[in-house]
Amino acid sequence: MCGIVAYIGPKDATAFLLEGLQRLEYRGYDSAGVAVAAKGGLKVCKVKGRVADLAAAVPARFKGTTGIGHTRWATHGVPSDANAHPHTDVSERIAVVHNGIIENADQLRALLAADGVVFTSETDTEVLAHLVAAHSGEGVELEDAVRAALGQVVGTYGIAVLDAQQPDRIVVARNGSPIVLGLGEKEMFVASDVAALVRYTRQVVHLEDGELATVRADGFRTFTEDARTVTRQPSTVDWEVASYDTAGYQHYLLKEIHEQPGAVERTLSGRLDERFATAHLGGLNLDARELREIRRVKILGCGSAYYAGEMGAQLIEELARIPAHSEPASEFRYRNPVIEADTLYVAVSQSGETYDTLAAVQEIKRKGGRVLGVVNTVGSAIARECDGGIYLHAGPEISVASTKAFTSTVIAFALLALHFGRIHDLSPADGRRIVAGLKALPDHIREILKQEEQIAELAAEYADNAGMMFIGRTRGYPVAREGAQKLKEISYVHAEAYPASELKHGPLALISPELPTVALVPDDELLDKNLTTLGEIKARSGRILAIAHRTPEAKLIDHCLLVPKSEPELDPLLLNIPLQLLAYYAAVALGRDVDKPRNLAKSVTVE
Ligand code: AGP
Repeated sequence: MCGIVAYIGPKDATAFLLEGLQRLEYRGYDSAGVAVAAKGGLKVCKVKGRVADLAAAVPARFKGTTGIGHTRWATHGVPSDANAHPHTDVSERIAVVHNGIIENADQLRALLAADGVVFTSETDTEVLAHLVAAHSGEGVELEDAVRAALGQVVGTYGIAVLDAQQPDRIVVARNGSPIVLGLGEKEMFVASDVAALVRYTRQVVHLEDGELATVRADGFRTFTEDARTVTRQPSTVDWEVASYDTAGYQHYLLKEIHEQPGAVERTLSGRLDERFATAHLGGLNLDARELREIRRVKILGCGSAYYAGEMGAQLIEELARIPAHSEPASEFRYRNPVIEADTLYVAVSQSGETYDTLAAVQEIKRKGGRVLGVVNTVGSAIARECDGGIYLHAGPEISVASTKAFTSTVIAFALLALHFGRIHDLSPADGRRIVAGLKALPDHIREILKQEEQIAELAAEYADNAGMMFIGRTRGYPVAREGAQKLKEISYVHAEAYPASELKHGPLALISPELPTVALVPDDELLDKNLTTLGEIKARSGRILAIAHRTPEAKLIDHCLLVPKSEPELDPLLLNIPLQLLAYYAAVALGRDVDKPRNLAKSVTVE
């Protein structure tokens, strides 16, 4: 949520800042801005709108070799030129870009206003610029002024600070919002996400919470809030530069949908044990005895991560016969939950940054609970906070709507359930069945993706409605929820998900030719029940698009998309794939900004 970039070196900073912001735009896209230290003071340019609007607004003579930039997702104050970052102090000596939330901004505003400071924005960030300026007396180093300012602040931040009088450095700090340094040849880069850096350097340093760094063209120094120097060794970014491009696809979302067979292969890689019909998960940090003592599993995540958790809970209950339940982390953290020693908590997050999920993990740990992370982003805040876990290795996910990370999360849960199952009651024969089913999934997904053209046609037809109903029974219900989430998120078509069994208890009243239903109809032990529900919808003139293993009788449906049959426990994962393409092509048909849907951002790092 919001993106930060900074540059210091021999070149013109603006070119890198604008390109870097473009790369980070998926993190927030309602306004953007840049500031450079130039002879005679700071130059600042910021606008409401996209990075392309900023690039058009930057004057030709906007030159400087030290600069910072930001792309915003509004928290305090509407998207506007004034609320866009960077924010400066009254004398325009200090410029600050910030991700996160300053919780005591109102109190600090009041104190600064009492000292005569006139604010020009509604943001919490502006207080930081005035505070740093207030501590920047004669001969004070910028890093000391920033440390003093942060000492007054309560909240989360990733910041980059520029001082017109000390243009030989940028000072950055991290507390809850990522900051990464990129090491170049006599130049240094900073970003909130490696996506902005990989074209320039693969050598990076991740700041830890509570750390600051002074970044100069020839290197950096990291230190703590109480000025103790800390040593940080650079690491090499794993992913290829191409992973951050659209690779010829019209949108990142379509590319990421098509990347799923490869992502699944990576999630499975080296983890399946055919001999003992189980899974090896080295990062759990729990031995078989500890795992056997677990009586319950509680899964926590937000949005699609929560729905993937629902599929995970189902897998764990079915394969390991351990009660498992998924709950939105955003609710869990506020309800003073009971934390039990024999419950295993599992936090799910693609980004590893989602604030609600992180807060839930911290609450569990405060109360002595044990938390595993199912996370895509290596080294992210949630991954670091957990006691162990499973990395997805799905590759960078840029589009706001999650697809390949969702699928890989469900795979990770299948592995966990298999591992759990085989130290409980799951038979070797059932273990082998699941291992074989998992191995076949990438090809099954490839088969579904071949139906893209047909799905695109159906999507265009169904998008032309004010709303859609998604129904599924037991294993199919989380699929319905994720399908509805994907459709509303990127196409803005209202979508409601219901357990098929619950339809007659209320929502059947909504059924009409104008509200079509997407029905998940797997060929499993509940097929007859699902067919009965289709009949009930048809009897009310409802239109039905079935996602099935076999085409139901023509009188029960209007359209049908077939998916390959896997093992019943793994079927939900495949039933979900056509729904991703359905949402994508509905959004395209409606002319939506697919990768950057309105009002949203990729990583939700605010409460
Ligand atoms: C997914 O399509 C959504 N953009 C959203 O629900 C997302 O899954 C949620 O915000 C959690 O993100 P995380 O996985 O990065 O924690």
